[in-house]
Amino acid sequence: THTRKRIVAGNWKMNCSRTEAIRLASAIVTMYDAIDNVELLICIPQIHLADISKLLINTGVLLGAQDAHWEDKGAYTGEISASMLTDYLVSHLLVGHSERREMFADDNQRVAKKFAAALKNNLKPILCVGETLQQREQGATFEIIKSQCQAVIDEVGIGAFANSYMAYEPVWAIGTGMTATPQQAQEVHAEIRSWLAQQDESIAARLPILYGGSMNAENAESLLVQPDIDGGLIGGASLKVEDFLKIYSAAG
Ligand code: G3P
Repeated sequence: THTRKRIVAGNWKMNCSRTEAIRLASAIVTMYDAIDNVELLICIPQIHLADISKLLINTGVLLGAQDAHWEDKGAYTGEISASMLTDYLVSHLLVGHSERREMFADDNQRVAKKFAAALKNNLKPILCVGETLQQREQGATFEIIKSQCQAVIDEVGIGAFANSYMAYEPVWAIGTGMTATPQQAQEVHAEIRSWLAQQDESIAARLPILYGGSMNAENAESLLVQPDIDGGLIGGASLKVEDFLKIYSAAG
């Protein structure tokens, strides 16, 4: 009875050996019980794409990547392009995760180019936005998020959000066990949506906005019942199959 499409996405980050990745993905496939209108997605390390994409064929579990370069090919040692990902049944791409912004020089301009590259290659971008603790304490939360969104809108236009997702991940809640309260998260989600609605009401109404940051099997439901929280982007808890699928059930 939710009006928007919902999605629960795992972000494995830089975890899992080949054996562990195959074991985890197989367990998800075996235990997964599809819920109408709620997508289940795993964003895995690129090196495992070949193995895991074979495993997910016809299962309904979707495959995503955690990052990609914005050019299709060229002299970019160590990088992988969005177009290369499409050979492996990848359907979604995380763009602008705070760990990439912090540690790998993904500024707003690069994030915008990566978002555009995803769309160009028919991947659904999941734009990650969020403030640091310091920015929140300075009252700059929404200003930061607005500038993170605006850079992408400047590059691709608001219309592009018809095929995209957004994830609100307060940096202070990531991997810390310090979840945003449902009220804190709902407040930011609603603010993002109403700001976007000033530019395009129907796109804003349909855009799935996921929450990320220490979401787990215990707190997922209280977050997912909020009217503007349409799913979760799960780090640590996505590496434990029972917990991950419990969160998925809570999104139904
Ligand atoms: O992208 C998901 C993420 O950054 C949250 O990580 O471990 O706090 O669930 P975690």
